[in-house]
Amino acid sequence: MLSYRHGFHAGNPADVFKHTVLVALVRAMQHKDKGIRFIDTHAGPALYDLHREPALKNREFARGIARLWNCRRDPGPLADYLDLVGEHNPDGVLRFYPGSPLLLRALLRRQDELVLCELHPAEQKALAERFDDDRKVRIHAGNGYQALAKFLPPPSGRGLALIDPSFEIRTEISDITAALQAALKRFGHGVYAIWYPTIEGRDTTPDSIPSALGLEREQWLDLRIEFPTDQRLGRMTGCGMAIINCPYRSRSAMTELQRRWN
Ligand SMILES: C[S@@+](CC[C@H](N)C(=O)[O-])C[C@H]1O[C@@H](n2cnc3c(N)ncnc32)[C@H](O)[C@@H]1O
Repeated sequence: MLSYRHGFHAGNPADVFKHTVLVALVRAMQHKDKGIRFIDTHAGPALYDLHREPALKNREFARGIARLWNCRRDPGPLADYLDLVGEHNPDGVLRFYPGSPLLLRALLRRQDELVLCELHPAEQKALAERFDDDRKVRIHAGNGYQALAKFLPPPSGRGLALIDPSFEIRTEISDITAALQAALKRFGHGVYAIWYPTIEGRDTTPDSIPSALGLEREQWLDLRIEFPTDQRLGRMTGCGMAIINCPYRSRSAMTELQRRWN
């Protein structure tokens, strides 16, 4: 049984970066009208109360979302993301943090749909309760990697899969590679965003993926950041989002986002 619970980590610097990139990526894809199927292969429970355990245990959010909360918001991807977090905190006091399922849900247009996958029974229950009567959201209570085969290709021909594992198991990168290999066969022009941590003494980077999958150079965009020393989380010194088939016109905006972070 997996022991990872994202509630201990919600709103930390890695979440802030991942979610800012995710929101920017969705906006970029939505420049076209055609409906998009979003698949969150590792969804987590969706909403986190930062005033309670488990968030209070290590207070990782203090180094992430809380640090940014009262900063001046120049228009741009970061402000866009902060506004979405703000929708869960209407009185302006930061308490609730929306994970990727709720951020994606907030961005859905009439023609879009969302599939949420989760393996942990407690997190499945939280997701099921939250999206119970939501007809735009489907919950796959099972393995997110297997769900890619089930839900790809999307009927509209447009889709984004967020692959955001907890890296508890040593085989995560090879599991991601195998899942992507199968997914790309079914849906070669899909957009895939893979979050990963950089951890001292362990190789968790996706550097082997482009050659393993035979990707063209322009199909791969790896946005990697290093946390400032006071934002590091134990041996986690940074993180990244690697994107396959990033919409061409948004590549420079994504790279700029990464540059500003570093
Ligand atoms: C890092 S958390 C997800 C956070 C979420 N994507 C967000 O950004 O708010 C990873 C989640 O994946 C779940 N999980 C682990 N392995 C899985 C698998 N093979 N398929 C589906 N869910 C999995 C864990 O239980 C955990 O809730």
